[in-house]
Amino acid sequence: MKRLTWILILHLFSVSVQSQYYTESLPYDPEEPKVTNLHFFLHEFLSGSNPTVAMIAQANITSSDNNSSVPFSTIFALDDILKTGPEDNSEVIGNAQGLGILIADTNTTNLLWYWDFGFITGKFNGSSISMFSRNPTTVTVRELSVVGGRGKFRMAKGFAQLKDYSRNDTTIIAELNVTVIHY
Ligand SMILES: *[C@@H]1O[C@H](CO)[C@@H](O)[C@H](O)[C@H]1NC(C)=O
Ligand SMILES: *[C@@H]1O[C@H](CO)[C@@H](O)[C@H](O)[C@H]1NC(C)=O
Ligand SMILES: *[C@@H]1O[C@H](CO)[C@@H](O)[C@H](O)[C@H]1NC(C)=O
Ligand SMILES: *[C@@H]1O[C@H](CO)[C@@H](O)[C@H](O)[C@H]1NC(C)=O
Ligand SMILES: *[C@@H]1O[C@H](CO)[C@@H](O)[C@H](O)[C@H]1NC(C)=O
Ligand SMILES: *[C@@H]1O[C@H](CO)[C@@H](O)[C@H](O)[C@H]1NC(C)=O
Ligand SMILES: *[C@@H]1O[C@H](CO)[C@@H](O)[C@H](O)[C@H]1NC(C)=O
Repeated sequence: MKRLTWILILHLFSVSVQSQYYTESLPYDPEEPKVTNLHFFLHEFLSGSNPTVAMIAQANITSSDNNSSVPFSTIFALDDILKTGPEDNSEVIGNAQGLGILIADTNTTNLLWYWDFGFITGKFNGSSISMFSRNPTTVTVRELSVVGGRGKFRMAKGFAQLKDYSRNDTTIIAELNVTVIHY
């Protein structure tokens, strides 16, 4: 009800003052924020007929700066598959689309993710959460920050914990627990 009143006020305001590009600033009083926990598995295919990762570009750096097997300044496009379980035939619930940047310091490889996790089933069908975080691959359980969201996850904030479930040269399967506060 309160929200409807605001919408009416905002509407009247925008009609009466058309030269302004902003509305009056109102007290922030949204509905009670909700917290949702998600648990799912990310399936990433590095090669094969349907890879979910593709290299976009890599800087031409000298070999002395390039001692890592995955060198600094490589940019990848990602479209990983989200499933309810680690098995091949687990139900597909969405995908994680984004950019990954490989940041290798002297000995270790770190990744920087710009990622949108979108869901296609259940009550979050059509909604997505945005993550922007470093992902230090040498750490067993990595924490990624949730910085926003769309649809039911509008205004989301939170964090994800990610752990490799299995990893070989062709397939990476990771387990994620995500805690999201949203409206
Ligand atoms: C890469 O860098 C090396 C050394 O600076 C240079 O000789 C070479 O031409 C560069 N290659 C390309 C494709 O720019
Ligand atoms: C860096 O090293 C990797 C792995 O040895 C190699 O694939 C890549 O081509 C190298 N990049 C440059 C710019 O030398
Ligand atoms: C890479 O390896 C070379 C030879 O082992 C070494 O001299 C150089 O310092 C290393 N570079 C970095 C950035 O670790
Ligand atoms: C990098 O690896 C070398 C050889 O394994 C080791 O001596 C060195 O301390 C490592 N450096 C860092 C910053 O971990
Ligand atoms: C998800 O939403 C789309 C678009 O509204 C709809 O076409 C689709 O059937 C929905 N899927 C499920 C599993 O509810
Ligand atoms: C996710 O939560 C489940 C249940 O609490 C736990 O067993 C699992 O180890 C957690 N995984 C990660 C990556 O945090
Ligand atoms: C890599 O792991 C996947 C998923 O666990 C498995 O299906 C595949 O056979 C493995 N490939 C190799 C070469 O071990």
